[in-house]
Amino acid sequence: MHKTLFELEDVIKKYDKVPVLHVKNLKLEENEIYAIMGPNGSGKSTLLKLLNLLDEPSHGKIIFQGVDTGKAGDSVRLRLRRQMCMVFQHTYMFNTSVYNNVSYGLRLRGIKGPELQSRVKEALSFVGMSDFGKRNALKLSGGETQRVALARAVAIRPRILLLDEPTANLDPDSVALIERLVQRIHETIHTTVLIVTHNLFQAKRLADEAIFLYEGNLIEKSPVPQIFTEPQSEVTRRFVSGTMVY
Ligand SMILES: Nc1ncnc2c1ncn2[C@@H]1O[C@H](COP(=O)(O)OP(=O)(O)O)[C@@H](O)[C@H]1O
Ligand SMILES: [Mg+2]
Repeated sequence: MHKTLFELEDVIKKYDKVPVLHVKNLKLEENEIYAIMGPNGSGKSTLLKLLNLLDEPSHGKIIFQGVDTGKAGDSVRLRLRRQMCMVFQHTYMFNTSVYNNVSYGLRLRGIKGPELQSRVKEALSFVGMSDFGKRNALKLSGGETQRVALARAVAIRPRILLLDEPTANLDPDSVALIERLVQRIHETIHTTVLIVTHNLFQAKRLADEAIFLYEGNLIEKSPVPQIFTEPQSEVTRRFVSGTMVY
């Protein structure tokens, strides 16, 4: 049985009084891979930031693991956030070694000594970068940088991995490698994955379910491949068939 991880009720996010996201109802279950799709400006990153508790909704409720996050104090929100890991299109690396970049999240969580070392080693090996520990993280290629970003995730073993267009700037070989790693993280750590992607093929390859946002509204949430073969609305159909111009 799948457990509900997130529950959103009538969530509205406004910037300068302008609503940019409205999600009437959304449930996300544990141990699934969700793709979040939609044109530019449709609210995908805004949704991810709300789920990551980086930002708060202007209205409505976000319940995470049964906790109403809007009513939770800072220490509870921090504890909840520590179960998540977010990777962006452009990952921010500290100007230090790959090793230090991967160990940072563990040190934040109070892990040190031999456990710290073995978790960093294991994470670098997981992404095929065992030899990269001493390299400067700012000197890596785009694909290597995203692999280090995933190594950070592997090290902290998050319940939830939030990926905001993680492969948007990568060459096809790197895209394939990152997709395999995401799949393996999901399978071995049982991490729930939310991936924002412009790439419909990527959504097909990776996701169990797809969520389609359009002009700030959640239009459809359907299993893959049904959303591609039997979209529930005309606007979803235009998007997945490639006839939507955006
Ligand atoms: N910090 C912000 N301040 C003001 N407007 C914002 C901010 N972040 C996003 N927006 C606006 O909210 C809308 C949705 O943005 P976003 O969630 O980034 O879309 P997507 O990720 O789907 O491209 C856009 O119109 C964007 O301009
Ligand atoms: Mg975005």
